[in-house]
Amino acid sequence: MTAKILDGNALSAKLRASLRHRAAELAAQGCRPGLAVILVGENPASQVYVRNKIKACEAVGVHSEKYEFPADTPPEKVLNKIAALNADPKIHGILVQLPLPKQFDEDAVLEAISPEKDVDGFHAENVGLLAQGHPRFISCTPYGIMEMLKSEGVSLKGKEAVVVGRSNIVGKPMTLLLIGASATVTVCHSQTRDLAFHTRRADILVAAVGRPKMITGGMVKPGAVVIDVGINRLPDGKLCGDVDFESAKEVASLITPVPGGVGPMTITMLLANTIEGAVRAAGK
Ligand code: GUN
Repeated sequence: MTAKILDGNALSAKLRASLRHRAAELAAQGCRPGLAVILVGENPASQVYVRNKIKACEAVGVHSEKYEFPADTPPEKVLNKIAALNADPKIHGILVQLPLPKQFDEDAVLEAISPEKDVDGFHAENVGLLAQGHPRFISCTPYGIMEMLKSEGVSLKGKEAVVVGRSNIVGKPMTLLLIGASATVTVCHSQTRDLAFHTRRADILVAAVGRPKMITGGMVKPGAVVIDVGINRLPDGKLCGDVDFESAKEVASLITPVPGGVGPMTITMLLANTIEGAVRAAGK
């Protein structure tokens, strides 16, 4: 079997066209959606992600503001900026790009963002709402993955889903969403004893560990849906995922490529969350 490729660029283009329409409608009603992005330090990957987020805002008509701080900025300065943005009616979404430099307490920074503007869905209140099954903002990567599964009509009810990775950004919220969709979910991580035992049982396999080509075709159940969240740079400069695409695509029924899979969907859902924030702020 050769898997069908789940094209995140194509699905993103379709979703972004309707988001552009929605943003224009809101702007015409005097409530143009606005996103503020805060970047601290010079992490090259973060700089690329932030640039892509701002470009995506421009392309769909979402107002964006970028605030850059040097790596040695005292945390109070960033917290003051967050407080100002919390009170700014032009801004419906605030995103602090992670990771932050060492002097920052990341949790304290995320908790300083108003939960009503927390378009990353990282605030404890929004994580709690998701865990209770009443999400307000859903973290963008897992949200994008759910949209990809929906677009292909993948049914999750009663299916075995295995999430590899337990991060706050992907693994944990992904697990909550899959449980919410009535899948039976196993979470694997660095201390899991026999990873392949678990992955071979997965009807839906989500890899989010940040280790290049860690999941090989032999670890995939025939016919599985394979979602690769990894974005790893190889020594030759090329990007690759956490899944060994070449071997896994011969076993899976559906697979996301890297690049061009989950990555573009993450940014698309950030736009969707910002627009949703504007809709709520306008009371519509
Ligand atoms: N760093 C890596 N992924 C993300 C993300 O989705 N949001 C933020 N804010 N930082 C990140």
